[in-house]
Amino acid sequence: MEAAGLVRIDATVPIGGHDTVCGLLWEVGAVGIESIGELVRVTLPTDCVDAAGALLAGHGAPPTAPEPVDPNAWKDLWREWAAAVRVEPDVVITPAWIEPPSRPGDVVIEVEPGDAWGHGAHPTTTLVVAALRAMGRLDGRRMLDVGCGSGVLSVAAARFGAADVVAVDIEPAAIVATADNAARNGVASQVVASLTPVESVAGTFDLVAANIGAGALIAMAPRLAALVRPGGSLLLSGLHADGDAVDRVEAAFAAWSPARRSRDGDWVALAFRAPSP
Ligand SMILES: C[S@@+](CC[C@H](N)C(=O)[O-])C[C@H]1O[C@@H](n2cnc3c(N)ncnc32)[C@H](O)[C@@H]1O
Repeated sequence: MEAAGLVRIDATVPIGGHDTVCGLLWEVGAVGIESIGELVRVTLPTDCVDAAGALLAGHGAPPTAPEPVDPNAWKDLWREWAAAVRVEPDVVITPAWIEPPSRPGDVVIEVEPGDAWGHGAHPTTTLVVAALRAMGRLDGRRMLDVGCGSGVLSVAAARFGAADVVAVDIEPAAIVATADNAARNGVASQVVASLTPVESVAGTFDLVAANIGAGALIAMAPRLAALVRPGGSLLLSGLHADGDAVDRVEAAFAAWSPARRSRDGDWVALAFRAPSP
């Protein structure tokens, strides 16, 4: 996450439009979004201001002039209102500094994102955790997590039994957070995080998960396809329901059997089964 050159803009967005507008703001580079009634307050790098301004104006919500933000003052504000989420009947993902309500038998996953993306509650993350859980026990399986962020998907797969999870990201902070969260959740021996580019990841996997958005997924489609063993599964997330993102990703994996499509608010995740030999 960029620590310098941040600004804040405000816009008035009708509450019914918050999900759509906020989802698009994350895609153009927002690093923090607060919703306070109809007010949407966006923190973002200066080089994303033009795109965010055009997006907001296009939704009838022209923003205020950008104001500089102290990068050290804003970045921990969200921690006060971060909350645990329940995914599927028995999985709870919680910020590490909260004592979540849980029941006997729950799988509780604690997340300290540090400077990496994701404390686990974003729909693009929870849709994949739900898809992993729906696969039952993952005992003995190998998983690749492309764009691991804070490591929620890697930790979840390991907690569900995966024997060997390879987590990669382009952000050093993600590697630190994923290793930290694997240790925090007792699965350090199953999860190895690194900055290895996806093009250089060796071997094949029973499962490949990638929550990195439609553009990156389509660009990586041939590489992702090559990393799944025959008959294995591919879980793709970060697809905005508006527009043609889902259609374009489905077209990129047209040779694969669709296995699942799930949606939470404005976000869609897809699962595919690789062709068998
Ligand atoms: C939306 S976050 C998802 C984080 C986590 N997997 C989750 O679901 O909570 C996307 C992550 O992908 C990483 N990323 C973006 N492009 C990438 C690429 N080409 N290769 C690997 N990681 C990438 C980003 O740095 C970010 O950490």
